[in-house]
Amino acid sequence: MNILITGATSGIGKQLTLDYAAAGHHVVACGRNQQALDELQNIDSNHIAGQQLDISQADETVQALRSFTDLDVVILAAGVCEYLDIDNFEADLFARVFEVNVVGTMRCVEALLPNLKAGAKLVIVGSTARLLPFTRAEAYGGSKAAIHYITRSLQVDLAQRGIKVLHVSPGFVETPMTAQNDFEMPMQVSVDFASQAIRKGIEKNKIDITFPRMFGWFLKLASRLPQSWQVALSRRMT
Ligand SMILES: NC(=O)c1ccc[n+]([C@@H]2O[C@H](COP(=O)([O-])OP(=O)(O)OC[C@H]3O[C@@H](n4cnc5c(N)ncnc54)[C@H](OP(=O)(O)O)[C@@H]3O)[C@@H](O)[C@H]2O)c1
Repeated sequence: MNILITGATSGIGKQLTLDYAAAGHHVVACGRNQQALDELQNIDSNHIAGQQLDISQADETVQALRSFTDLDVVILAAGVCEYLDIDNFEADLFARVFEVNVVGTMRCVEALLPNLKAGAKLVIVGSTARLLPFTRAEAYGGSKAAIHYITRSLQVDLAQRGIKVLHVSPGFVETPMTAQNDFEMPMQVSVDFASQAIRKGIEKNKIDITFPRMFGWFLKLASRLPQSWQVALSRRMT
């Protein structure tokens, strides 16, 4: 298969890149960090090609991605996380997070969609953070809630073109992104676990790939509680 992955220079995207390449697939690995892209290419230049890309830059993104015409799977995993300090409320923090997680991700869709053929899979990485109003996660959780809604609408609108749109909701995964967290992360899994769960879900065309399963079930159940209970639950976790 020909696979394009954003966020391939680190964490979940990097593991997916290595695992797909090891299985003999051809991967276009995207990210800003040229050194990390070179390292990936050096590991397996037959199967991994680096593409430097900053998805917060509109022209650069469209120009870089327009030329990929024969993709079977696109995994949009690039993302950032910043937590809000409620005592120093900063609207620009929302702009930074949404610029990458929402607008940047949609720039990738804009660039790649014209060349996606029937049967192709478009995989968008959200987060289980969208399921409850977690403390300090106004921007991050909000961006992932937006991505979840957008993905479901794309599932409707791209069905007629035969393009499968899959949404990924990871729980806590051990990556550089979560290394900054100073709180307990229940049921945290490794990048190997995450990569396996995502690859299995993609193979099975699961439109909702949530892992780890128990953590996902708990949060999905909690998200159906009355809103006041959800707030109380999240306050207890603070
Ligand atoms: N780790 C978790 O527990 C967890 C849980 C739920 C959801 N997720 C989601 O999973 C995805 C991957 O997260 P991760 O934990 O693997 O994070 P990570 O290790 O911090 O990796 C983030 C990736 O995003 C790329 N990126 C960030 N800004 C970019 C930009 N402007 N342009 C292009 N690429 C950019 C980074 O590449 P460069 O720095 O090279 O640009 C990097 O490859 C994210 O969407 C995240 O929200 C993670």
